[in-house]
Amino acid sequence: PKLIVVNRAGEESTIEADTGLSVMEAIRDNGFDELLALCGGCCSCATCHVHVDAEWTDKLPPVSADEDDLLDSSDHRNATSRLSCQIQMTAALDGLKVAIAPED
Ligand code: FES
Repeated sequence: PKLIVVNRAGEESTIEADTGLSVMEAIRDNGFDELLALCGGCCSCATCHVHVDAEWTDKLPPVSADEDDLLDSSDHRNATSRLSCQIQMTAALDGLKVAIAPED
């Protein structure tokens, strides 16, 4: 599936994200070094924070309590904030669009 990524400069890129990878892994593996993902995807760092395009938010699995707590630690949380390591790519998410959140 395709994943559209908006970097912190506002530039949009379309990348190929394999099914089963997390959105974080797909972004990181495509060379976006803005997405630090320091904990490697175990939901404990919040440096993989993205803002999901509003059209997609209700198509994603719900936010877990741990994810919710971590997102609260960000100054840039908004209504569409997610941790990208907690979203698995599936065929249904073809065309998903996310913006890398500003650095905390
Ligand atoms: Fe650390 Fe997502 S990579 S919380």
